[in-house]
Amino acid sequence: MIAPIFCFVLLHAPSARAGELKSVMKDMKAAMSGAMGSATLPEFTKQLERLRQDAQIASRLSYSGDAATYRQGMQDLQRNLEAAEREAKAGDLTAAKSALQLASRTKRRYHDLLN
Ligand code: HEM
Repeated sequence: MIAPIFCFVLLHAPSARAGELKSVMKDMKAAMSGAMGSATLPEFTKQLERLRQDAQIASRLSYSGDAATYRQGMQDLQRNLEAAEREAKAGDLTAAKSALQLASRTKRRYHDLLN
């Protein structure tokens, strides 16, 4: 009775993780456009926080492809988000948005490398 359940878990775990990656990426997309479209610092900060949480979740997922490149991309992304947070904390929404543009570049770079 145990064996079939065990096999089911083994076979389905990777696809469950892939689904999790997709859904966290979709949330990052929404948070990114929320942040870039925000008119006030509190609004921006809220979306950035969401993005940082998503990035943290994504960086903890085990990636079944080129894991080293994936890890590097997540580190670059987190650094971009930290830079945007510093500008937001300094009270400069325009600078914070420019810093966040770098995250879009990181996204394109690693999507090209991994997909
Ligand atoms: C703000 C930055 C990012 C945004 C907004 C973003 C957004 C997205 C979106 C919308 C998808 C498509 C999800 C779907 O299939 O429905 C995706 C896929 C993917 N992204 Fe990102 N991404 C970002 C950064 C990154 C980074 C830095 C990496 C690598 C370290 C990465 C790795 C991937 C991978 C591997 C997929 C394919 C997932 C799959 O099909 O299983 N992304 N991303």
